[in-house]
Amino acid sequence: MIPKITFRDVVRTFPVKGGTFTALDGVSLDIADEEFVTVVGPSGCGKSTLLGMAAGLDEPTGGEVLVDGAPVTGPGPERGVIFQQYALFPWLTVRRNVEFGLRLADLPAEERRTRAQRAIDLVGLTDFADALPKTLSGGMKQRCAIARAYAVDPTVLLMDEPFGALDALTRVQLQDQLLDTWSQDRRTVLFITHDVDEAVYLARRVVVMAARPGRIHKIVDVDLPYPRTEEIRLSPEFSRIRNEVWHSVYHQSPAAV
Ligand SMILES: Nc1ncnc2c1ncn2[C@@H]1O[C@H](COP(=O)(O)OP(=O)(O)OP(=O)(O)O)[C@@H](O)[C@H]1O
Ligand SMILES: [Mg+2]
Repeated sequence: MIPKITFRDVVRTFPVKGGTFTALDGVSLDIADEEFVTVVGPSGCGKSTLLGMAAGLDEPTGGEVLVDGAPVTGPGPERGVIFQQYALFPWLTVRRNVEFGLRLADLPAEERRTRAQRAIDLVGLTDFADALPKTLSGGMKQRCAIARAYAVDPTVLLMDEPFGALDALTRVQLQDQLLDTWSQDRRTVLFITHDVDEAVYLARRVVVMAARPGRIHKIVDVDLPYPRTEEIRLSPEFSRIRNEVWHSVYHQSPAAV
């Protein structure tokens, strides 16, 4: 079966004063259809660069990035991207922000409205559909950004530290909500986080990256059943996997960090 996302020998260099900087060096990774993969690693190891290439916002200098077996040539409606910053239009209401995500889809206004409403309900913002972003809490803004991505009904979700700015409780609620929708819709998810607990709780595999140059250090299988529950989060097996990931992030050889 063709993987949903393939990174093959991906290299990304940037021209810098006096030479080139290698942000990613020889990254190869296959992500299966409907798989949930998280990526952790030290700051600057190339996580966002990697995700940006799958999103079609950046191109590799070497190697290739494929979605459904075809090279990525730009953004597409089948790939929804959610960034750490909420990236909402402040002058548009929640509903208008969510509908904005559908502007490229050639849909009748009625259908756009129905889809937007469904996504807004799903993330629990029903009562705030006509509110402006400035009147929302951080967690609610992020729910709005998530609704905007869901409304398009992408088969791939690319999420770059989406819950990074949120308090612990909101974060856990949004994790459970994300897993809920994922278990229903079975999208392919590539999710970057700096939170090791979050990485293990969500994923079937955790990709641990190392820096200078950015590369894959280790891939840890998370052999825990879905649905993930509080009980699983507190289980010895969860702790064991979390410790393994933690160890490989924070005890990379000095030359590698
Ligand atoms: N446009 C650019 N020009 C030059 N260097 C860049 C550019 N974009 C990224 N880099 C460099 O590439 C490296 C990887 O950046 P990237 O943003 O992918 O890291 P990251 O793993 O997402 O870090 P963080 O956890 O802090 O978000 C960094 O050293 C960064 O300075
Ligand atoms: Mg980043």
